[in-house]
Amino acid sequence: MKVDVLLGLQWGDEGKGKIVDVLAPAYNVIARFQGGPNAGHTLEFEGRKHVLRSIPSGIFHEGIMNVIGNGVALDPLLFKEEAEVLAASGFDLTKRVAISKKAHLILPTHQLLDAAYEASKGEKIGTTGKGIGPTYMDKMGRSGLRVGDLLKDDFMARYEDLKAKHDHIFLSMFYPYYTKTLEAKWHDATDYLKRFEWIDSEHVINHYLKDGKAILAEGAQGTMLDVDFGSYPFVTSSSTICAGCCTGLGVAPRHIGEVYGIFKAYCTRVGSGPFPTELSDSTGETLCRQGYEFGSVTGRKRRCGWIDLVALKYAIMINGVTQLIMTKSDVLDAFDVIKACVAYRIDGKEVMEFPYEINNPIEPIYTELPGWKTPMTGMQSENEFPEEFNAYLSFLEEELELPIKIVSVGPDRAQTIVRN
Ligand code: IMP
Ligand code: MG
Repeated sequence: MKVDVLLGLQWGDEGKGKIVDVLAPAYNVIARFQGGPNAGHTLEFEGRKHVLRSIPSGIFHEGIMNVIGNGVALDPLLFKEEAEVLAASGFDLTKRVAISKKAHLILPTHQLLDAAYEASKGEKIGTTGKGIGPTYMDKMGRSGLRVGDLLKDDFMARYEDLKAKHDHIFLSMFYPYYTKTLEAKWHDATDYLKRFEWIDSEHVINHYLKDGKAILAEGAQGTMLDVDFGSYPFVTSSSTICAGCCTGLGVAPRHIGEVYGIFKAYCTRVGSGPFPTELSDSTGETLCRQGYEFGSVTGRKRRCGWIDLVALKYAIMINGVTQLIMTKSDVLDAFDVIKACVAYRIDGKEVMEFPYEINNPIEPIYTELPGWKTPMTGMQSENEFPEEFNAYLSFLEEELELPIKIVSVGPDRAQTIVRN
């Protein structure tokens, strides 16, 4: 057996949660391998909407084990809040979620450091403010605390040590803060965490593989936010790409199977940083309105633009994508003309390969395709697709050199069409 991986190919919010939920019945295990509560995966079914942050998107199906892997940064307090909301909706997670002992803990001071660093920066990253960057800094700096450390007798001493390190940083930044109330709640939440199974997830995942269990690894954020290959420094602090699944779960590269790459029929970005195809005009407004493009974690309005094939091809290459999934197709229903960026013009030169950085002025070069001007949200099969939509799909498949296997035409689980 192999581990299949599902990833976002743009700047996040491609609809990964929805697609994992749709694919879940074919899997025994769903695993998160990176990121943390900066993610917001929205799922809709049976007239209800759920937003997941740290918890994998397989929890709505009975009999599926959901693993939070070692590559994840976990905030016990936010995890508790998330799990309690789900419990109130009738989903008891204690038997469905297992947590890696090697996942790093987001401390209250990590969250405050995130705010302090942002405040000190001239050019803001626009982080989600969940302490992601500072937690991964401590992980790489070998000062971090892990879930398994909570079982050690000297955990409180280790916690105070790390907090003292953070205090030095706050002092040097003249950043006053108060954490007592937050800390009390955080420590309570670490007790709540003990209701869940803590596992050596690398062993568990590899045993599952040996036993022939089907595993799906669920990415968070998107390839263009990857710490190495994204639009650095306007990125998140984890490996959001396929290789992140190997280090974030302990899966050997040769055990990676299908790589599902998800993209929206257009493009969005939340937070700051370069965005070549961004539209600041009424078309951008229409995309935002039609696509209801507001962040599910922070509520921030997302920036919108046309699809960027230069960036998409780069993402497909880095991840070794084997099949594509296109979401939010219905958002383009009303447009007369659909545009797709096929190259960048930089300093008067046409560039087809994604460059070192995209921070300097880039003029997108577009191909225009006719819109379908037909509502797609009610469609049940690909036989109903308008001719112009099929032409858009064929154009993308030819450009991207991969098949688009699934098309999503609305937020609900039911609004998903698998193509033959
Ligand atoms: P951080 O991950 O909170 O440090 O934020 C770094 C950048 O990544 C910011 O631009 C965020 O808006 C963006 N970001 C982080 N998580 C997500 C996500 O799940 N979807 C979209 N953007 C995200
Ligand atoms: Mg999201």
